[in-house]
Amino acid sequence: MLRLDRLVEPDRVHRTVYTDQAIFDREMANMWEKTWVYCGHESQLKKTGDYATVQIGRQPMIMVRGSDGRIRVLHNRCPHRGVQLCGNRQGNTGSTFVCSYHAWTFHLDGKVKGIPLSHGYDGTRMSPQNPDCSVKAAARVDSYRGFVFASLSATGPTLLEFLGEAKIAFDDMCDRSPQGEVEIVPICHRVMQHSNWKFFMENQLDALHPSVTHQSTGVAAGRVERKLREQGEQPPLYYHYLSTFASSFEQWDSVQTVNFPRGHGILKGYMGLRPDDPDTKEYVAALYRAYGEMRAEEYLGRSIHHVLIYPYLSVQSPLQQLRVLRPLAPNKTLSEIWHFRLKGVSQAIYRRALWYFNLVNSPATMINADDLENWTKGQWGLESDGGDWVSFHRNHGGDTREGGVTFSNNGTSEAVMRSQFEAWTQYMREETP
Ligand code: FES
Ligand SMILES: [Fe+2]
Repeated sequence: MLRLDRLVEPDRVHRTVYTDQAIFDREMANMWEKTWVYCGHESQLKKTGDYATVQIGRQPMIMVRGSDGRIRVLHNRCPHRGVQLCGNRQGNTGSTFVCSYHAWTFHLDGKVKGIPLSHGYDGTRMSPQNPDCSVKAAARVDSYRGFVFASLSATGPTLLEFLGEAKIAFDDMCDRSPQGEVEIVPICHRVMQHSNWKFFMENQLDALHPSVTHQSTGVAAGRVERKLREQGEQPPLYYHYLSTFASSFEQWDSVQTVNFPRGHGILKGYMGLRPDDPDTKEYVAALYRAYGEMRAEEYLGRSIHHVLIYPYLSVQSPLQQLRVLRPLAPNKTLSEIWHFRLKGVSQAIYRRALWYFNLVNSPATMINADDLENWTKGQWGLESDGGDWVSFHRNHGGDTREGGVTFSNNGTSEAVMRSQFEAWTQYMREETP
Protein backbone atom coordinates (compact mmCIF):
# COMPACT_ATOMS: atom_id res chain seq x y z
CA MET A 1 0.00 0.00 0.00
CA LEU A 2 1.19 3.48 -0.88
CA ARG A 3 1.88 5.53 2.29
CA LEU A 4 1.35 9.02 0.91
CA ASP A 5 1.98 10.61 4.30
CA ARG A 6 5.48 9.15 4.18
CA LEU A 7 6.11 10.54 0.73
CA VAL A 8 4.71 14.06 0.88
CA GLU A 9 5.16 16.40 3.84
CA PRO A 10 4.12 20.06 3.79
CA ASP A 11 7.67 21.27 3.13
CA ARG A 12 9.43 18.32 1.50
CA VAL A 13 8.78 15.22 -0.60
CA HIS A 14 10.48 11.85 -0.76
CA ARG A 15 12.68 11.34 -3.81
CA THR A 16 10.85 8.16 -4.84
CA VAL A 17 7.89 10.19 -6.13
CA TYR A 18 10.21 11.03 -9.05
CA THR A 19 11.76 7.61 -9.53
CA ASP A 20 9.45 4.77 -8.52
CA GLN A 21 7.67 2.74 -11.22
CA ALA A 22 4.69 1.82 -9.01
CA ILE A 23 4.13 5.48 -8.15
CA PHE A 24 4.38 6.38 -11.83
CA ASP A 25 1.81 3.72 -12.73
CA ARG A 26 -0.56 5.08 -10.14
CA GLU A 27 -0.05 8.61 -11.50
CA MET A 28 -1.05 7.36 -14.94
CA ALA A 29 -4.14 5.58 -13.59
CA ASN A 30 -5.24 8.24 -11.10
CA MET A 31 -4.27 11.40 -12.92
CA TRP A 32 -3.86 11.12 -16.69
CA GLU A 33 -6.40 8.36 -17.24
CA LYS A 34 -9.04 10.06 -15.13
CA THR A 35 -8.74 13.76 -15.54
CA TRP A 36 -9.23 15.93 -18.63
CA VAL A 37 -6.22 15.67 -20.92
CA TYR A 38 -5.45 18.14 -23.68
CA CYS A 39 -5.64 16.38 -27.05
CA GLY A 40 -5.22 19.17 -29.56
CA HIS A 41 -6.86 22.12 -31.25
CA GLU A 42 -9.97 22.03 -33.44
CA SER A 43 -8.02 23.73 -36.25
CA GLN A 44 -5.83 20.62 -36.54
CA LEU A 45 -8.84 18.75 -37.88
CA LYS A 46 -10.37 20.85 -40.61
CA LYS A 47 -12.03 18.21 -42.78
CA THR A 48 -14.03 15.05 -42.19
CA GLY A 49 -11.61 12.20 -41.55
CA ASP A 50 -8.74 14.43 -40.38
CA TYR A 51 -7.13 12.82 -37.37
CA ALA A 52 -4.22 13.21 -34.97
CA THR A 53 -2.89 10.50 -32.69
CA VAL A 54 -2.41 11.43 -29.07
CA GLN A 55 -1.28 9.73 -25.88
CA ILE A 56 -3.51 9.90 -22.79
CA GLY A 57 -1.56 8.37 -19.93
CA ARG A 58 -0.68 4.90 -21.17
CA GLN A 59 -3.43 4.89 -23.80
CA PRO A 60 -2.76 5.58 -27.49
CA MET A 61 -5.76 7.49 -28.79
CA ILE A 62 -7.01 9.04 -32.03
CA MET A 63 -8.67 12.45 -32.18
CA VAL A 64 -10.80 12.53 -35.33
CA ARG A 65 -13.38 14.76 -37.03
CA GLY A 66 -16.50 12.82 -37.96
CA SER A 67 -18.81 13.21 -40.92
CA ASP A 68 -21.19 15.09 -38.61
CA GLY A 69 -18.42 17.63 -37.92
CA ARG A 70 -17.99 16.45 -34.33
CA ILE A 71 -14.58 15.71 -32.88
CA ARG A 72 -14.27 12.38 -31.10
CA VAL A 73 -11.43 10.69 -29.29
CA LEU A 74 -11.13 6.93 -29.81
CA HIS A 75 -8.78 4.25 -28.58
CA ASN A 76 -6.23 3.50 -31.27
CA ARG A 77 -7.00 -0.19 -31.16
CA CYS A 78 -8.86 -2.51 -33.46
CA PRO A 79 -11.53 -4.49 -31.57
CA HIS A 80 -10.65 -7.64 -33.54
CA ARG A 81 -7.14 -8.54 -32.42
CA GLY A 82 -5.87 -5.26 -31.08
CA VAL A 83 -3.82 -3.76 -33.91
CA GLN A 84 -3.44 0.03 -33.85
CA LEU A 85 -5.63 1.64 -36.48
CA CYS A 86 -3.57 4.76 -37.16
CA GLY A 87 0.20 4.58 -37.35
CA ASN A 88 0.88 8.20 -38.28
CA ARG A 89 0.85 11.24 -36.05
CA GLN A 90 -1.71 12.93 -38.24
CA GLY A 91 -3.48 12.52 -41.54
CA ASN A 92 -6.83 11.96 -43.19
CA THR A 93 -8.44 8.55 -43.02
CA GLY A 94 -11.23 9.30 -45.50
CA SER A 95 -14.70 8.23 -44.45
CA THR A 96 -13.59 5.13 -42.53
CA PHE A 97 -10.80 3.56 -40.55
CA VAL A 98 -9.54 0.38 -42.16
CA CYS A 99 -7.51 -2.01 -40.05
CA SER A 100 -4.31 -3.04 -41.79
CA TYR A 101 -4.48 -6.61 -40.47
CA HIS A 102 -7.81 -8.15 -41.58
CA ALA A 103 -9.64 -5.15 -43.04
CA TRP A 104 -12.33 -4.63 -40.46
CA THR A 105 -13.64 -1.14 -41.19
CA PHE A 106 -15.07 1.46 -38.84
CA HIS A 107 -17.09 4.65 -39.13
CA LEU A 108 -15.40 7.80 -37.86
CA ASP A 109 -17.37 7.55 -34.60
CA GLY A 110 -15.76 4.12 -34.03
CA LYS A 111 -18.81 2.00 -34.90
CA VAL A 112 -18.01 -1.10 -36.92
CA LYS A 113 -18.92 -0.71 -40.59
CA GLY A 114 -17.80 -3.91 -42.23
CA ILE A 115 -16.15 -7.23 -41.47
CA PRO A 116 -14.85 -9.42 -44.34
CA LEU A 117 -16.90 -12.63 -44.66
CA SER A 118 -18.87 -11.61 -41.62
CA HIS A 119 -20.99 -14.80 -41.75
CA GLY A 120 -17.94 -16.43 -40.18
CA TYR A 121 -19.22 -14.97 -36.94
CA ASP A 122 -22.71 -16.45 -37.27
CA GLY A 123 -23.63 -18.22 -34.09
CA THR A 124 -20.75 -16.70 -32.10
CA ARG A 125 -21.12 -14.00 -29.50
CA MET A 126 -19.14 -11.62 -31.74
CA SER A 127 -21.67 -10.03 -34.05
CA PRO A 128 -21.61 -6.55 -35.60
CA GLN A 129 -24.40 -5.59 -33.17
CA ASN A 130 -22.12 -6.32 -30.24
CA PRO A 131 -20.51 -3.07 -29.00
CA ASP A 132 -17.31 -5.08 -28.52
CA CYS A 133 -17.03 -5.02 -32.32
CA SER A 134 -16.63 -1.24 -32.35
CA VAL A 135 -13.70 0.94 -31.41
CA LYS A 136 -13.88 2.08 -27.81
CA ALA A 137 -14.32 5.83 -27.37
CA ALA A 138 -13.07 8.15 -24.63
CA ALA A 139 -15.81 8.54 -22.04
CA ARG A 140 -15.97 12.31 -22.46
CA VAL A 141 -14.76 14.87 -24.99
CA ASP A 142 -15.20 18.60 -24.63
CA SER A 143 -13.55 21.75 -25.84
CA TYR A 144 -12.98 25.24 -24.60
CA ARG A 145 -12.39 28.04 -27.13
CA GLY A 146 -11.21 25.50 -29.68
CA PHE A 147 -8.91 23.52 -27.36
CA VAL A 148 -10.02 19.88 -27.23
CA PHE A 149 -9.78 17.73 -24.12
CA ALA A 150 -10.82 14.15 -23.38
CA SER A 151 -11.39 12.25 -20.18
CA LEU A 152 -11.26 8.48 -19.98
CA SER A 153 -13.51 8.63 -16.93
CA ALA A 154 -17.27 9.01 -17.26
CA THR A 155 -17.43 10.69 -13.87
CA GLY A 156 -15.60 13.54 -12.22
CA PRO A 157 -15.54 17.29 -12.75
CA THR A 158 -16.63 18.85 -16.03
CA LEU A 159 -13.92 20.36 -18.21
CA LEU A 160 -14.70 23.84 -16.94
CA GLU A 161 -14.68 22.67 -13.33
CA PHE A 162 -11.34 20.99 -13.94
CA LEU A 163 -9.82 24.09 -15.55
CA GLY A 164 -11.22 26.44 -12.92
CA GLU A 165 -9.45 29.81 -12.93
CA ALA A 166 -6.77 28.37 -15.20
CA LYS A 167 -9.16 28.66 -18.16
CA ILE A 168 -7.75 32.18 -18.41
CA ALA A 169 -4.92 30.53 -20.37
CA PHE A 170 -7.25 30.04 -23.33
CA ASP A 171 -9.21 33.26 -22.84
CA ASP A 172 -6.00 35.26 -22.74
CA MET A 173 -4.69 33.58 -25.87
CA CYS A 174 -7.89 33.96 -27.91
CA ASP A 175 -8.85 37.44 -26.68
CA ARG A 176 -5.59 38.75 -28.15
CA SER A 177 -7.07 38.07 -31.59
CA PRO A 178 -9.55 40.61 -32.94
CA GLN A 179 -11.61 37.59 -34.05
CA GLY A 180 -11.40 35.95 -30.63
CA GLU A 181 -9.86 32.81 -32.10
CA VAL A 182 -6.52 31.18 -32.71
CA GLU A 183 -5.36 28.64 -35.24
CA ILE A 184 -2.72 26.04 -34.53
CA VAL A 185 0.53 26.08 -36.49
CA PRO A 186 0.48 22.40 -37.34
CA ILE A 187 4.11 21.66 -36.56
CA CYS A 188 5.45 20.97 -33.10
CA HIS A 189 8.82 20.49 -31.54
CA ARG A 190 8.93 17.16 -29.75
CA VAL A 191 11.48 16.80 -26.98
CA MET A 192 12.31 13.67 -25.03
CA GLN A 193 13.12 14.73 -21.48
CA HIS A 194 15.20 12.26 -19.50
CA SER A 195 13.53 13.24 -16.28
CA ASN A 196 10.31 12.85 -14.37
CA TRP A 197 7.43 15.00 -15.58
CA LYS A 198 7.32 16.88 -12.27
CA PHE A 199 10.64 18.58 -12.98
CA PHE A 200 9.06 20.38 -15.92
CA MET A 201 5.93 21.37 -14.02
CA GLU A 202 7.88 22.72 -11.06
CA ASN A 203 10.33 24.54 -13.28
CA GLN A 204 7.67 26.51 -15.16
CA LEU A 205 6.82 28.71 -12.17
CA ASP A 206 10.26 28.51 -10.56
CA ALA A 207 11.39 32.12 -10.65
CA LEU A 208 14.59 31.47 -8.75
CA HIS A 209 16.22 29.51 -11.54
CA PRO A 210 16.17 31.76 -14.65
CA SER A 211 18.89 34.19 -13.65
CA VAL A 212 21.14 31.23 -12.80
CA THR A 213 20.30 28.59 -15.40
CA HIS A 214 19.83 31.05 -18.25
CA GLN A 215 22.48 33.55 -17.20
CA SER A 216 24.83 32.97 -20.12
CA THR A 217 22.12 33.49 -22.73
CA GLY A 218 20.46 36.36 -20.89
CA VAL A 219 23.67 38.30 -20.30
CA ALA A 220 24.85 37.85 -23.89
CA ALA A 221 21.49 39.05 -25.27
CA GLY A 222 21.56 42.03 -22.89
CA ARG A 223 25.02 43.00 -24.17
CA VAL A 224 23.78 43.01 -27.76
CA GLU A 225 20.76 45.11 -26.78
CA ARG A 226 23.01 47.68 -25.11
CA LYS A 227 25.34 47.82 -28.07
CA LEU A 228 22.48 48.38 -30.49
CA ARG A 229 21.11 51.17 -28.31
CA GLU A 230 24.54 52.81 -28.16
CA GLN A 231 24.52 52.76 -31.94
CA GLY A 232 21.16 54.52 -31.88
CA GLU A 233 19.19 51.46 -32.95
CA GLN A 234 16.14 49.95 -31.30
CA PRO A 235 16.95 46.28 -30.48
CA PRO A 236 14.43 43.84 -31.92
CA LEU A 237 11.94 42.43 -29.40
CA TYR A 238 13.47 38.96 -29.56
CA TYR A 239 16.61 40.12 -27.73
CA HIS A 240 14.32 41.18 -24.89
CA TYR A 241 12.83 37.65 -24.75
CA LEU A 242 16.30 36.40 -23.89
CA SER A 243 17.79 39.26 -21.86
CA THR A 244 14.97 39.25 -19.27
CA PHE A 245 16.10 35.79 -18.16
CA ALA A 246 19.15 37.46 -16.64
CA SER A 247 17.11 39.80 -14.41
CA SER A 248 18.40 39.98 -10.83
CA PHE A 249 17.21 37.68 -8.04
CA GLU A 250 15.39 40.67 -6.53
CA GLN A 251 13.55 41.36 -9.78
CA TRP A 252 12.49 37.73 -10.06
CA ASP A 253 11.43 37.67 -6.43
CA SER A 254 9.05 40.56 -7.08
CA VAL A 255 7.10 38.61 -9.73
CA GLN A 256 3.96 37.15 -8.15
CA THR A 257 2.78 33.58 -8.46
CA VAL A 258 -0.83 32.57 -7.93
CA ASN A 259 -1.54 28.95 -7.04
CA PHE A 260 -5.02 27.58 -7.64
CA PRO A 261 -6.69 24.39 -6.43
CA ARG A 262 -5.90 21.24 -8.46
CA GLY A 263 -2.26 22.38 -8.77
CA HIS A 264 -2.88 24.95 -11.52
CA GLY A 265 -1.00 28.25 -11.30
CA ILE A 266 0.05 31.51 -12.89
CA LEU A 267 3.42 33.19 -13.08
CA LYS A 268 2.54 36.83 -13.61
CA GLY A 269 3.92 38.91 -16.43
CA TYR A 270 7.47 40.18 -16.34
CA MET A 271 8.28 40.94 -19.97
CA GLY A 272 7.40 44.13 -21.79
CA LEU A 273 5.58 42.87 -24.86
CA ARG A 274 4.09 46.09 -26.16
CA PRO A 275 6.70 48.01 -28.12
CA ASP A 276 5.85 51.33 -29.67
CA ASP A 277 6.18 50.49 -33.36
CA PRO A 278 3.82 50.72 -36.36
CA ASP A 279 3.00 46.97 -36.33
CA THR A 280 1.95 47.09 -32.69
CA LYS A 281 -0.05 50.27 -33.23
CA GLU A 282 -1.94 48.68 -36.12
CA TYR A 283 -2.59 45.58 -34.02
CA VAL A 284 -3.86 47.56 -31.02
CA ALA A 285 -6.12 49.59 -33.32
CA ALA A 286 -7.62 46.34 -34.66
CA LEU A 287 -8.32 45.19 -31.10
CA TYR A 288 -9.93 48.54 -30.26
CA ARG A 289 -12.17 48.18 -33.31
CA ALA A 290 -13.14 44.64 -32.31
CA TYR A 291 -13.69 45.10 -28.59
CA GLY A 292 -13.73 48.81 -27.81
CA GLU A 293 -10.85 50.52 -26.02
CA MET A 294 -11.70 49.44 -22.49
CA ARG A 295 -11.99 45.74 -23.15
CA ALA A 296 -9.03 45.71 -25.52
CA GLU A 297 -6.85 47.37 -22.89
CA GLU A 298 -8.08 44.87 -20.31
CA TYR A 299 -7.04 42.02 -22.62
CA LEU A 300 -3.68 43.54 -23.44
CA GLY A 301 -2.99 44.46 -19.83
CA ARG A 302 -3.41 41.03 -18.24
CA SER A 303 -0.40 40.18 -16.13
CA ILE A 304 0.41 36.66 -17.23
CA HIS A 305 3.59 34.97 -18.32
CA HIS A 306 2.71 31.29 -17.91
CA VAL A 307 -0.49 29.54 -16.94
CA LEU A 308 0.09 26.05 -15.68
CA ILE A 309 -2.66 23.46 -15.94
CA TYR A 310 -1.62 20.66 -13.65
CA PRO A 311 -0.34 18.05 -14.21
CA TYR A 312 0.71 18.38 -17.84
CA LEU A 313 0.19 21.72 -19.56
CA SER A 314 2.05 25.02 -19.70
CA VAL A 315 0.46 27.83 -21.69
CA GLN A 316 2.25 31.09 -22.43
CA SER A 317 -0.84 32.87 -23.62
CA PRO A 318 0.65 36.33 -24.40
CA LEU A 319 2.96 34.64 -26.91
CA GLN A 320 0.55 31.86 -27.98
CA GLN A 321 2.76 28.98 -26.88
CA LEU A 322 1.55 25.70 -25.44
CA ARG A 323 3.64 22.86 -24.08
CA VAL A 324 2.06 19.54 -23.20
CA LEU A 325 3.65 16.63 -21.36
CA ARG A 326 3.15 12.98 -22.23
CA PRO A 327 4.96 11.04 -19.47
CA LEU A 328 6.35 7.70 -20.64
CA ALA A 329 8.28 6.39 -17.62
CA PRO A 330 9.42 7.71 -14.24
CA ASN A 331 12.55 9.10 -15.94
CA LYS A 332 11.20 9.75 -19.43
CA THR A 333 8.78 12.47 -20.52
CA LEU A 334 7.82 13.51 -24.01
CA SER A 335 6.99 17.18 -24.39
CA GLU A 336 5.17 18.61 -27.37
CA ILE A 337 5.74 22.30 -28.02
CA TRP A 338 3.09 24.06 -30.11
CA HIS A 339 2.35 27.63 -31.06
CA PHE A 340 -0.70 29.38 -32.49
CA ARG A 341 -1.61 32.21 -34.83
CA LEU A 342 -3.96 34.90 -33.63
CA LYS A 343 -6.65 35.07 -36.29
CA GLY A 344 -6.96 38.42 -38.05
CA VAL A 345 -3.51 39.82 -37.21
CA SER A 346 -0.58 40.71 -39.45
CA GLN A 347 2.35 38.47 -40.23
CA ALA A 348 4.58 40.84 -38.22
CA ILE A 349 2.60 40.09 -35.05
CA TYR A 350 2.57 36.35 -35.77
CA ARG A 351 6.35 36.44 -36.17
CA ARG A 352 6.66 37.42 -32.48
CA ALA A 353 5.11 34.09 -31.49
CA LEU A 354 7.34 32.28 -33.97
CA TRP A 355 10.46 33.99 -32.55
CA TYR A 356 9.56 32.87 -29.04
CA PHE A 357 8.79 29.35 -30.25
CA ASN A 358 12.20 29.08 -31.87
CA LEU A 359 14.33 31.18 -29.51
CA VAL A 360 13.06 30.03 -26.13
CA ASN A 361 10.96 26.88 -26.42
CA SER A 362 12.69 25.02 -29.24
CA PRO A 363 15.07 22.21 -28.22
CA ALA A 364 17.71 23.99 -30.31
CA THR A 365 17.87 27.08 -28.09
CA MET A 366 20.20 27.57 -25.16
CA ILE A 367 17.19 28.34 -22.94
CA ASN A 368 15.35 25.03 -23.27
CA ALA A 369 18.63 23.11 -23.51
CA ASP A 370 19.85 24.53 -20.20
CA ASP A 371 16.58 23.59 -18.49
CA LEU A 372 16.72 20.08 -19.95
CA GLU A 373 20.23 19.60 -18.62
CA ASN A 374 19.15 20.61 -15.11
CA TRP A 375 16.23 18.20 -15.14
CA THR A 376 18.36 15.29 -16.34
CA LYS A 377 20.93 16.01 -13.65
CA GLY A 378 18.09 16.35 -11.15
CA GLN A 379 16.78 12.92 -12.09
CA TRP A 380 20.25 11.40 -11.68
CA GLY A 381 20.58 13.01 -8.26
CA LEU A 382 17.22 11.70 -7.09
CA GLU A 383 18.01 8.21 -8.34
CA SER A 384 21.16 8.23 -6.18
CA ASP A 385 21.50 7.45 -2.48
CA GLY A 386 22.85 10.92 -1.76
CA GLY A 387 19.74 11.91 0.19
CA ASP A 388 16.08 10.98 0.51
CA TRP A 389 14.28 14.32 0.50
CA VAL A 390 13.55 17.09 -1.97
CA SER A 391 13.32 20.46 -0.20
CA PHE A 392 10.45 22.86 -0.77
CA HIS A 393 11.09 24.94 2.34
CA ARG A 394 11.59 28.30 0.66
CA ASN A 395 9.11 30.83 2.14
CA HIS A 396 7.20 27.99 3.76
CA GLY A 397 4.73 29.52 6.19
CA GLY A 398 4.88 32.89 4.46
CA ASP A 399 2.15 32.47 1.88
CA THR A 400 -1.35 33.93 1.90
CA ARG A 401 -4.30 31.64 1.32
CA GLU A 402 -7.76 32.83 0.34
CA GLY A 403 -10.57 30.61 -0.90
CA GLY A 404 -8.22 27.78 -1.79
CA VAL A 405 -5.90 30.11 -3.72
CA THR A 406 -2.35 30.57 -2.47
CA PHE A 407 -0.66 33.86 -3.24
CA SER A 408 2.97 34.44 -2.75
CA ASN A 409 4.46 37.86 -2.88
CA ASN A 410 7.80 36.23 -3.26
CA GLY A 411 8.14 35.09 -6.84
CA THR A 412 10.88 32.72 -5.77
CA SER A 413 8.73 31.00 -3.13
CA GLU A 414 8.41 27.25 -3.41
CA ALA A 415 4.68 27.71 -2.74
CA VAL A 416 4.26 26.57 -6.35
CA MET A 417 5.70 23.12 -5.67
CA ARG A 418 3.90 22.79 -2.34
CA SER A 419 0.61 23.58 -4.08
CA GLN A 420 1.32 21.06 -6.84
CA PHE A 421 2.02 18.34 -4.30
CA GLU A 422 -1.21 19.12 -2.47
CA ALA A 423 -3.04 18.39 -5.71
CA TRP A 424 -0.84 15.37 -6.39
CA THR A 425 -1.75 13.90 -3.01
CA GLN A 426 -5.46 14.38 -3.71
CA TYR A 427 -5.20 12.56 -7.02
CA MET A 428 -3.05 9.77 -5.64
CA ARG A 429 -5.23 9.18 -2.60
CA GLU A 430 -8.19 8.02 -4.65
CA GLU A 431 -8.44 4.26 -4.89
CA THR A 432 -8.34 2.95 -8.42
CA PRO A 433 -11.09 0.43 -9.19
S1 FES B 1 -6.73 -6.93 -35.94
FE1 FES B 1 -7.89 -5.45 -36.99
S2 FES B 1 -9.00 -6.53 -38.45
FE2 FES B 1 -7.90 -8.05 -37.39
FE1 LIG C 1 14.23 27.76 -17.43
